[in-house]
Amino acid sequence: MNIILTKDYEAMSDAAFCVMQAVVTRNPSAVLGLATGTTPLGLYARMAEDHRKNGTSYLGVRTVNLDEYVGLGMESDQSYVYFMRKNLFEHIGIPLENTHIANGKAPDLAAECARYNALLDGLQQDIQVLGIGSNGHIAFNEPGTPFGSTVHVVDLAESTVRDNARLFAREEDVPRRALTMGLKNIMHAKKILILANGAGKANAVYGLVRGEVTTALPASILQLHPDCTLVCDEAAASLLSL
Ligand code: F6R
Repeated sequence: MNIILTKDYEAMSDAAFCVMQAVVTRNPSAVLGLATGTTPLGLYARMAEDHRKNGTSYLGVRTVNLDEYVGLGMESDQSYVYFMRKNLFEHIGIPLENTHIANGKAPDLAAECARYNALLDGLQQDIQVLGIGSNGHIAFNEPGTPFGSTVHVVDLAESTVRDNARLFAREEDVPRRALTMGLKNIMHAKKILILANGAGKANAVYGLVRGEVTTALPASILQLHPDCTLVCDEAAASLLSL
């Protein structure tokens, strides 16, 4: 695993942008795997700024997102489809039909998982951006998820509901279920870019880099990926003794 250690969140976002920018300029029809959450916001702001200032084109780029809450869609500002449009897609001129997110409002969730899985099979990510949960989850693959998992519906861990409650008016409002790429879908990416900042991620980052490869800490599977880069700030790396 390549590790890029940065001073703080801004420097983490700068470094992440350099990695992303190299992929998009080398391949104007790249497939970008994207994450939501607070961690990649700085990266997305830099992509938007670069598009505005330098005209980097996303007309041929396709995107696939990691996950979506069950029951939420574009009408909810807590949905991941809304998050992606407001924080990235509307600012980089990407045709919305080239952007893909599992449909949290699908009437038949099993069919939606199968549809999204088939789509991912045909759209191998040139780069997959990831955040990491404080319990070591990636996407919504919670501890105990089999390494061979594909797109599935997940019951969110209590710790994840608590972590995400900060983004909702009340903890009761946090959806308890989500559709998520499985670990196999993530490992299928040609390149992984995982970002982490803040002391709250230090234990998970330790497990990601130095822990045993175990389903108890899903991110540890990334030790087996041939091209994985971790960009993290000093607080998140504090247990690594780099
Ligand atoms: C988001 C996702 C999650 C987050 C993780 C960290 O699409 O799949 O795994 O990356 O929960 O969230 P933040 O960045 O908010 O700390």
